[in-house]
Amino acid sequence: MSNAIAIILAAGTGNRAGGGVPKQFRPLLGKPVLLWSLEAFQRHPDIKDVVIVCAADANLQKMGLANSHEYVVAGGRTRAESVQNALKAITCEAHTPVLIHDAARPGLRQAMITNLLAGLADADGVAPSLPVNDALKDISGDHLQTIDRTPLRRVQTPQVFRYADISAALEDTNLDIVDDLAALEKAGKTIKLIAGDTRLHKITYEEDFAIVEQLLSPPTAIPRMGTGYDVHQFGEGDHVTLCGVKIMHTHGLVGHSDADIGWHALTDAILGAVALGDIGDHFPPSDPQWKDADSGTFLAFARQLALEAGYTVANVDITLICEAPKIKPHREAMREKTAQVLQIPIEAVSVKATTTERLGFTGRAEGMAGQAAAVLTPIHKPA
Ligand code: CTP
Ligand code: MG
Repeated sequence: MSNAIAIILAAGTGNRAGGGVPKQFRPLLGKPVLLWSLEAFQRHPDIKDVVIVCAADANLQKMGLANSHEYVVAGGRTRAESVQNALKAITCEAHTPVLIHDAARPGLRQAMITNLLAGLADADGVAPSLPVNDALKDISGDHLQTIDRTPLRRVQTPQVFRYADISAALEDTNLDIVDDLAALEKAGKTIKLIAGDTRLHKITYEEDFAIVEQLLSPPTAIPRMGTGYDVHQFGEGDHVTLCGVKIMHTHGLVGHSDADIGWHALTDAILGAVALGDIGDHFPPSDPQWKDADSGTFLAFARQLALEAGYTVANVDITLICEAPKIKPHREAMREKTAQVLQIPIEAVSVKATTTERLGFTGRAEGMAGQAAAVLTPIHKPA
């Protein structure tokens, strides 16, 4: 279609919100309130032009919009007068859809624009609305009266009409109206209410800034977790390397690299958290360059991959499974080494050990097993 016109009302003084600068020019999550709606309309494929109603003043200049005269129309004393000024400034067909929106409602989504325009197929006016959830009381008389809220709706903007309908409706009213739909109601036109959006909350008072900021903040990205498991067989040798620490022992662990089951399990846990395969994918045992390799290289590599994927290691938990050697005397050294490689605080590293009560391959001291869990959190990028 691509022929609809959007009018953004930004000519108010924002008295109730206070704060010196009118609310529509104040920053919200890194950009002026007005820009949120402007960008939403500009992004939508069905919107041909956007008209901003406001004085072409210093506030617009700061946003780089001061000289786009084809877009900026001076406001009126009332909201309805501001709408009239915009309608007069537009040249379009009688049936062109016109969306009228409060700059004070920055949470406009693309789907809302689409749904409103679609609604115009079988109505003369379409607006988003929400039910009333609070109890309602009439305080005008001597006694409180409870009002049945079930038939009541809160109506938001944008509201969409055909150009000729809304122009005529506003001409006929005395401008004592709360929204543009009211003008159309008086003209006896068909009106359709579609599902509203809590994100379209209007900034009226200072406290609304915090509410809208909360509504429009990107959802906190979810942390990710991964687990890893590794086994190596005991063989010839006089030491084992566990979590980077060399421990003298009656046997060694057989492996292509240094056979550090703690760090191998941990490397897999980190790779698992970002779903980037496993240690064997990145360091194939068939590749001679990893012969006797320090497993710290694998661990540091997994950390790097996670960083590139936008995640940082929050905490890790390693369990070493064997009858011997005794792990406890070396536990603090293992935590420290692991924390160093991952560049995280030692408090974020746990190393535990258990026997399997002489059962199974670990119980028979045929080999050792290690398992690990890692939690990764998204790296927060400032807006
Ligand atoms: N508006 C307008 N022209 C007016 C009055 C209001 O364009 N003469 C716009 C406001 O900028 C706002 C929207 O209409 O985006 C809704 O109005 P409201 O929330 O009442 O804003 P203000 O009138 O600016 O605020 P207040 O009533 O607290 O002074
Ligand atoms: Mg007002």
